[in-house]
Amino acid sequence: MPCTLAELNACDGPRFMAVCGPLYEHSPWVAERACAGRPFASREALHAALIAAVAEASPAEQLGLIRAHPDLVGRLSREGRLTAASTAEQAAAGLDTLTPDEAEAFDRYNRAYRDRFGFPFVICARENRKEAILTAFPVRLTHTVEQERAAALDEIGRIGWLRLLDAVREP
Ligand code: GUN
Repeated sequence: MPCTLAELNACDGPRFMAVCGPLYEHSPWVAERACAGRPFASREALHAALIAAVAEASPAEQLGLIRAHPDLVGRLSREGRLTAASTAEQAAAGLDTLTPDEAEAFDRYNRAYRDRFGFPFVICARENRKEAILTAFPVRLTHTVEQERAAALDEIGRIGWLRLLDAVREP
């Protein structure tokens, strides 16, 4: 349920968490830590606090956040077990209408990426159509694990920003 920034600055903790908890996939701790920074002067300031909470988290917590993301076109998606936000994001990229060849390519890349890095491939699906995602996979597979951890956290920040724009109105 969308709310205004003013409401979010004045509400109780449970209401803040109801709006901001889902901005980071299965990781409400990000919003919990950012909550201490209220009041926020803008949605950008709220987003900066969320980004800072992730940046200040331990490497294990950051890895847990990355691992909380579902594979694009993965098992959870096939079984209809994605969060509502993830389902919409994957559909926005056109991932719900893949050819058999494209679906096979996603399977192969997802497996290769997890084998190499030990976490799922994260790219902001709402900013990338399926063709761009299939182009990005082989490039990112050449990176180091440090580069990909940083890339995943950057993409998660973008995913969170777009979710925040949907969830919080300004003023
Ligand atoms: N996994 C890879 N990309 C995405 C994305 O944009 N959203 C979600 N929820 N999971 C992902």
